[in-house]
Amino acid sequence: MIKETVVSGIRSTGKLHIGNYYGAVKNFVQMQHEYNCYFFIADLHSLTTHPTPQDLHGNIKQVLVEYLACGIDPETTTIYIQSDVPEVSELYLYLNMNAYLGELERATSFKDKVRANPDNVNAGLLTYPVLMAADILIHRATKVPVGKDQEQHLEMARTFGNRFNRLYSNEYFPEPYAFSYSNNLVKVPGLDGKGKMGKSEGEGNAVYLSDSPEVIRKKVSRAVTDSGPTAENQDKPEAIQNLFDLMKIVSSADTLAHFEEQYNKMAIRYGDFKKQLAEDMIVTTAPMRERINEIAADTAYLRQVAKHGALKARESAQKTIREVREIIGFKSF
Ligand code: TYM
Repeated sequence: MIKETVVSGIRSTGKLHIGNYYGAVKNFVQMQHEYNCYFFIADLHSLTTHPTPQDLHGNIKQVLVEYLACGIDPETTTIYIQSDVPEVSELYLYLNMNAYLGELERATSFKDKVRANPDNVNAGLLTYPVLMAADILIHRATKVPVGKDQEQHLEMARTFGNRFNRLYSNEYFPEPYAFSYSNNLVKVPGLDGKGKMGKSEGEGNAVYLSDSPEVIRKKVSRAVTDSGPTAENQDKPEAIQNLFDLMKIVSSADTLAHFEEQYNKMAIRYGDFKKQLAEDMIVTTAPMRERINEIAADTAYLRQVAKHGALKARESAQKTIREVREIIGFKSF
């Protein structure tokens, strides 16, 4: 039986946080036994913010180490570094010919980035969703495990693939869809009371897989709360709801139910609530944390994983590029 193909990636902008884990990597680990999986480190995407060569290299290594520490098995899964597969950049160029300014400017992530960094609105940022489509279409994948924030990018990948198919009157690229084992795509909130957990949302908002128990306790203890509920069974304000949502992810159903009840009875003590949340975060991240340093020290192993992954990924990518060139009309004399 032919297994469905799965692709996903993480930008190499630093350490993985629990948003990356519960939104994406946890699904990767589960999917690798069921599907034909390609998981990569999106280092080309990270160039939009102009990292130094040292930072770039260190961050690529960090994501590779953490993929392995989370349990992605390089024997069953193709783990690779995006820039090791130049065919991705070639497909990106072809897809760019059919990606239009208006639709790229309307992408939510582009608008957010423009607002956050008005002095760095480069063309790579604008065409970020096209590169992402190339990542997915290069292996002709149908399932893409991602968090909620990537849903629009998946829609754009379908648009670009379908447009290519229409232009050349064929059905070469299948439609890729965002995937999560939970019914809905996941959005893990941050600790700042405002929105999602993210690397660029400021210090203290994200809990990293590599954070020590002490650091986790400190971050959670500083999470934004309020002065407590003022009526029984009241709706929770965003900052409080976010902490409950985090607890839903890392704690048992009984623990969550206990604190829900306390909140509804106006008896909740945020100190106890946060202590429990921190301890459960520590427990769920422990297996990863314990392996990170050990794997990071094994340079020979990392080199071998990256080399093996690049070979396997290129095999698949080269086949696609060969066929795409043929479809476009690049033929040898
Ligand atoms: P990135 O690096 O921002 O995030 C990697 C993955 O983690 C998920 N994620 C979250 N999920 C839930 N809650 C959160 N707070 C949270 N923060 C991050 C993201 O949804 C993502 O799945 N453009 C992508 C990387 C990429 C990619 C691709 C993904 C490049 N090419 C092709 C899939 C397929 C990105 O920046 O993810």
